[in-house]
Amino acid sequence: MNIVYLGHSAFEIETTGKKILIDPFLVCSPNYKPDNITNIFVTHAHGDHLGSAIEISKSSGAPITAVYELANYCAKQGAKAIDTGLGAWIEYNWGRAAAVPAFHSSSTPDGVYGGCPCGFVFEIEGKTIYHAGDTSLSNEMKMIGEVYQPDTAMLPIGGKYTMDIEHAVKAAEWLGASEVIPMHYNTFDAIKVDINDFERQIREIGKIPMTMKID
Ligand code: NI
Ligand code: MN
Repeated sequence: MNIVYLGHSAFEIETTGKKILIDPFLVCSPNYKPDNITNIFVTHAHGDHLGSAIEISKSSGAPITAVYELANYCAKQGAKAIDTGLGAWIEYNWGRAAAVPAFHSSSTPDGVYGGCPCGFVFEIEGKTIYHAGDTSLSNEMKMIGEVYQPDTAMLPIGGKYTMDIEHAVKAAEWLGASEVIPMHYNTFDAIKVDINDFERQIREIGKIPMTMKID
């Protein structure tokens, strides 16, 4: 499995010839070409997460997995979509995924209600990866830690709209993940952080900070 960071909250995960895109807002990675995408996941409808999902789905045929309202919105725009509700496993030909709670809001760039925001848990090649989407720190992370036992957590750390570093460190503790990938920071001024501070605090609780360079 190979994880590529595309900036903000966007990732590509490659596994046995399949490619999964998460929250493909690609302004930070203008040279990235979304070729041969198998599946797209969108945590909520805000423009910095929906990104180019609809265009990529239309050109590649890869379906977008999202909660019911957002999946319907994507389908109306001509994308392929897989709708889901929180908590259910969905099986794919590379593993499985489940939408899990996130505390945030969700409306599309043109103001359509996007259903409830979510994070996603992925089981791929025997590893469990949690992408939190945009969220505050919440008790749900204790549940996610206990039930899904993620090995790797992708957590927003930029503050202002989501958890900041202090809360992301607490989330990492509750989730029990040994590796923490920071996201949703330094994309714009309002979410500027000192990444060294994040790395130091994550090491202090005995976990590995996996700051990724934008590809
Ligand atoms: Ni958002
Ligand atoms: Mn966001």
